[in-house]
Amino acid sequence: MSQETLSNLSREDRRFEPPAAIAEHANLTAEAYDRAAADPEAFWAEQAERLSWDQRWDRVLDWDDPPFAQWFVGGRINAAYNCVDRHVEAGRGDKVAFHFVGEPLDDTRTITYAQLKDDVSQAANALTALGVEAGDRVAIYMPMIPEAVVTMLACARIGAPHTVVFGGFSSDALASRLEDCQAKVIVTADGGYRRGSASALKPAVDEARTKAEALGHTVEKVLVVRRTGQDVAWDDDVDVWWHESVATASTEHACEFFDAEHPLYVMYTSGTTGKPKGILHTTGGYLVGTSYTHWAVFDLKPDTDVYWCTADIGWVTGHSYIVYGPLANGATQVLYEGTPDSPERGRWWDIIEEYGVTIFYTAPTAIRSFMKQGREIPDKRDLSSLRILGSVGEPINPEAYVWYRSVIGGDRTPVVDTWWQTETGAIMISPLPGVTAGKPGSAMTAIPGVAADVVTDEGASVPDGSGGYLVLTQPWPSMLRTIWGDDERFKETYWSKYAAQGWYFAGDGAKKDTDGDLWVLGRVDDVMNVSGHRLSTTEIESALVSHPKVAEAAVVGAKDEDTGQAVVAFVILRDEAGDGGGDIVAELRKHVRTQIGPIATPRQIMIVAELPKTRSGKIMRRLLKDVAEHREIGDVTTLADSSVMELISAGVDSSPGED
Ligand code: WT7
Repeated sequence: MSQETLSNLSREDRRFEPPAAIAEHANLTAEAYDRAAADPEAFWAEQAERLSWDQRWDRVLDWDDPPFAQWFVGGRINAAYNCVDRHVEAGRGDKVAFHFVGEPLDDTRTITYAQLKDDVSQAANALTALGVEAGDRVAIYMPMIPEAVVTMLACARIGAPHTVVFGGFSSDALASRLEDCQAKVIVTADGGYRRGSASALKPAVDEARTKAEALGHTVEKVLVVRRTGQDVAWDDDVDVWWHESVATASTEHACEFFDAEHPLYVMYTSGTTGKPKGILHTTGGYLVGTSYTHWAVFDLKPDTDVYWCTADIGWVTGHSYIVYGPLANGATQVLYEGTPDSPERGRWWDIIEEYGVTIFYTAPTAIRSFMKQGREIPDKRDLSSLRILGSVGEPINPEAYVWYRSVIGGDRTPVVDTWWQTETGAIMISPLPGVTAGKPGSAMTAIPGVAADVVTDEGASVPDGSGGYLVLTQPWPSMLRTIWGDDERFKETYWSKYAAQGWYFAGDGAKKDTDGDLWVLGRVDDVMNVSGHRLSTTEIESALVSHPKVAEAAVVGAKDEDTGQAVVAFVILRDEAGDGGGDIVAELRKHVRTQIGPIATPRQIMIVAELPKTRSGKIMRRLLKDVAEHREIGDVTTLADSSVMELISAGVDSSPGED
């Protein structure tokens, strides 16, 4: 990581003390840090007691065969029962679970916990009728509508692990996930509302089913919610309408309890190779981790708080902090389908005002875009209900943090900058709103129960004031259990770098400031973070070289003011393609969209004659990054041909540039 970043951080000396009102009634207080450190297993057992178990565990943690952990061994639990039924049984059936807000104005629904229980039971019955049994995988490709949450919970209820694929992914990306986890059924919708119009989902499902077939995998049934009323192609042997099956099913469903280690879901995420990794989370430990962190980090008071997380359920944040954590805690939430600027730019603030949102959780990229639009827009709304603000997905730069706190939070609200990953399942490093004096830009310290450190290549803990690699030094309940179908890749990716110490290597660089607080600096591997979404350089390179005109491609994540990082690609065309013809850049950008999805579209593609390589043929992305970020080019002494960079830089200055 650059020295410049490190020294910038050390100039940040603003501090925000926790408000007295929050500190006084905080769910978790400072004493928890020492107590958890003294006996982590006892601490986690205490957190597990907040859930309802059909059978209690015999052993908190089995770490006899690392890195394969088992938590709450012998325990039996049902995630959907914990998220829904138990609240109804406790007399809170009339409490609102979701204020659903569709993107079209006035398209709202209020769903109580009692209603949610009926809906989930119906969906569980309908999935069973379609042949789904415990252990079968169900793919979910849906807009942000209540049926998506209902489907996830119905799967959990019957023990069928779900795999939610973000609706912005292409049919190719969907097909490879269907094949990898051998999904039996897909649940989707005709479409959803985004940016003021109905966008289609079912056609991508139809295509993906055909593509999965070509890969040798047959999807048996597709369950379709009618959301937009768009025309859809229909295959009578496969397609089933939600309103004809789920809506007519019985609202009675006896819930079965599963082993604590029963698979709950698989979430695909990009790694350093072209093939996405299916991150496996299991039931008991994951639910303990998500419900505990949601309660502690957001200081949730379920009777009075209105909580809103703006993530999509297609990402892990939606899984942990819309579905499992908040619902296990009996929270009342806002669920919003659309984009922040539809029908106009103040939409999010209108929603906060209308529903009296008290806890708000979003991403730095969104905050930066609001900063650009100006404070006049949020200033017109009454946001005084807010008491805690959260940030996730990428490092939040101090300016965005301070703007968020002062403009959105009226200078009253703590900002919790939460560091975690798809793999960790739940928040690992974050301030506690009633305990920590926040520093803009710092995720501060590991939360009680979690042990993190910043270490050198060799595994020595770095002193305060220095940087290194971020590691987790103890197992935690919501940790990934493996990569679906690939135990070796699981070991290699996360546990091989510090195998001797038995630590989890997160793939991030971080710094300890002079107080020992943590500043996460970003990925140190070939993984990019674009608008808080993880993308693999190799995956995009593979997409590019699958185009008939491309001979070679190298992709880097370049610093971007709006999206944190942006995709920049360097491409060598095949001889027979000449100069590519027409608008080759537009053609290649479109190709990446269809191969992966709009989020992976390169901001910039530069057609070059050569790529910088070492003598052993490895592409030196570091140098390309210098070019993409308009920096002085670094050390080129290991290049096989040192003139290459001059050629590339010369080409870049005359290239068509960004659009
Ligand atoms: C990567 C994980 C966690 C859910 C959303 C993304 C980066 C995430 C922070 C933060 C600095 C952060 C890291 C991490 N990241 N949160 N608060 N500060 N960096 O999940 O797709 O699994 O990506 O996002 O680089 O490794 P993900």
